[in-house]
Amino acid sequence: MQHVHRARVFLSAALMLCAAAGSASAAESTPRAVSPIFGVSIPEGYRSWQLIAPAEEAAPLDELRVVLGNPAAVKAIQDLKGPFPDGAILVKLAYKRKQSPEFASATVPGQATTVQIMVKDSKRYASTGGWGFGRFIGGVPTDAAQHQTCFACHEARAAKDRDYVFTRFAP
Ligand code: HEC
Repeated sequence: MQHVHRARVFLSAALMLCAAAGSASAAESTPRAVSPIFGVSIPEGYRSWQLIAPAEEAAPLDELRVVLGNPAAVKAIQDLKGPFPDGAILVKLAYKRKQSPEFASATVPGQATTVQIMVKDSKRYASTGGWGFGRFIGGVPTDAAQHQTCFACHEARAAKDRDYVFTRFAP
């Protein structure tokens, strides 16, 4: 009887450890922070997505940028006809400029500033052109007020026949 009890205690302790380990690794690999309004999170594995285009932003932001896409976005943007398919995701990474320590005329990425995301889901985000938006600083989503500006600017300034996306596939 004593044995059985010990075995049970041991088993439940082991299960608790497993559960703790499981949730810890899930937290590392699945960023849970989501943007206000849209509930968009930083997609897993985006650093290995394909390059769509680099970009620069003049002062005062004075940044280097790069836009990456998941396979659905890259396929669609190369020869865009109509809207992006549901599931397409675009990620824009921004960095302060830094002079290369090795080569004075070269500019390299300095401090990372923002990660911005657009996720296509025509039903869920029907009121914002089918796009859900997320803006993160150091992995933390910025406030709702900032997220209210996203679609307004993309809608007003990006071409409607480019589905509110500014970036074109770089040659
Ligand atoms: C005042 C205008 C403006 C606002 C507001 C704005 N954007 Fe953009 N966005 C741009 C411009 C211009 C580009 C293309 C140039 C570049 O990449 O910097 C762009 C590019 C992007 C891209 C790459 C895809 C594309 O359309 O080229 C993403 C992703 C993005 N923005 C997300 C966001 C999110 C998220 C917000 C809100 C938090 C936001 N944007 C708010 C002007 C804006």
